Amino acid sequence: MEDLKLAILAYLNENKTIESSLDLAIKLEVSHNEVVGAIKSLDSIQYAVLQQLETKKYVLTPDGEDYIEKGTPEMRLFSTVPAEGVNIKDLPKDQVVDLGRNYGKAKGWFSIEQGKLKKIKEAVVDEDADLLRDIQAFKEVPADKIKNLEKRRTIKLQLTKYYSISTGPKFSLTLPKLATDLTHDMIIKGTWAQEEFKAYNFNALGKEITVGNLHPLMKVRTQFCNVLLEMGFEEMPTNQYVESAFWNFDTLFQPQSHPARDAHDTFFIKDPANSNQIEDKAYWEKVRDVHEKGGHGSIGWRYPWQDEEAKKNILRTHTTAVSAKMLYKLAQEKEFKPKKYFSIDRVFRNETLDATHLAEFHQVEGLIADRGLGFSHLKTVISVFFKKIGLEKIKFKPTYNPYTEPSAEIFAFHPILNKWVEIGNSGVFRPEMLGPLGLPSDVSVIAWGLSLERPTMINYNIGNIRDLFGHSVNVKDIRANPICCFQK
Ligand code: PHE
Repeated sequence: MEDLKLAILAYLNENKTIESSLDLAIKLEVSHNEVVGAIKSLDSIQYAVLQQLETKKYVLTPDGEDYIEKGTPEMRLFSTVPAEGVNIKDLPKDQVVDLGRNYGKAKGWFSIEQGKLKKIKEAVVDEDADLLRDIQAFKEVPADKIKNLEKRRTIKLQLTKYYSISTGPKFSLTLPKLATDLTHDMIIKGTWAQEEFKAYNFNALGKEITVGNLHPLMKVRTQFCNVLLEMGFEEMPTNQYVESAFWNFDTLFQPQSHPARDAHDTFFIKDPANSNQIEDKAYWEKVRDVHEKGGHGSIGWRYPWQDEEAKKNILRTHTTAVSAKMLYKLAQEKEFKPKKYFSIDRVFRNETLDATHLAEFHQVEGLIADRGLGFSHLKTVISVFFKKIGLEKIKFKPTYNPYTEPSAEIFAFHPILNKWVEIGNSGVFRPEMLGPLGLPSDVSVIAWGLSLERPTMINYNIGNIRDLFGHSVNVKDIRANPICCFQK
């Protein structure tokens, strides 16, 4: 920059005025942008006076830029065709290849005989690419060549800003040593009076500040939280990823041979592999009994239930493990009080990863315990919740869960994938689960579990879950994400 400024000053000294910064850039063999930077800086110290002008100039189109970088299509083709030629039908079907063939043939580089493309010349010069370089540098190019390049859609006329430059009031051939800061030292020594200071540039912008940004999924979580709080739900403590199979499966009347328990779906903890705490022996036995012998109107699963299986430590596969614990606590209360609970936290499943599945995701869990509740209440609560988060198109489909009856999957319509996607599961907890807990027999519990990611993908038009959660999320996207506004 210093050298460029000195060169401009020398040039200005000879000529007093320079008609066009565009010509100056050609003479000094630098880009116009660099010249503009240098003359603006000379203007700020009154070494030069600028006048902004406009003219129509040819500039490159994206194709033109591409040709400069990689060569024209005919050049690219020329350098790939072997001496013996190629069969036309073996050439890839590609726009660049087609263009290369046509232009190369017109330029007399290739011949086409009996379906074979052959080079007629040994070496060629990519003249059009060189001309494009000249245009880019605003150099003079003959009119017929311009016409040709314009026909190829590699250049277009565009209004271009440039400057005329004349000497300013403080013009000199040497650059001043300007101080930028008034220092403590200058004040103490009194040298500030002799210093020449650089003028303030009030138009300069500061460095962009990189600040922390909330992840979009976390914004959505906050919003879901608020919706559920508004609906009168209390948050459950979910800060425990490792659970025993007992709370994750057994208390939910899920038989020990259930396929969801095996290694395909569940992550087992190696160390410690087992939880040896049986907090409440009596409850533990009640759970075992209901699996083995039934009760509460049920004949049970009737198989030999094993303590060891229930003691296994696992990464929780659903937050329903937490719901079970909360209901257990609720049943310990002297007097039953109706409750609405919710949570939003991580769960883990050993699944095959694809556009809509990850091995960990966030589950939104909700439950209501009260007298006289049924499936119709569940459907209404879920519909109200989804309406509040902006999803009106939802469907219920009957399904099976070992711990609920009736049970229904919840589907929502995904506009990008253009299909209904499953976003959750719900049901009325079975007496085989509630009975051993000791809740009054006329109390029923309706509950559901959703993924936080799926409705977020639907509302934000995200086609791939990996763009929303996990290590491949683009940090730029997190920064650019608007303040979340889910409610419509
Ligand atoms: N636990 C279920 C799941 O993981 C969701 C669910 C919760 C279903 C409560 C019914 C009742 O999908």
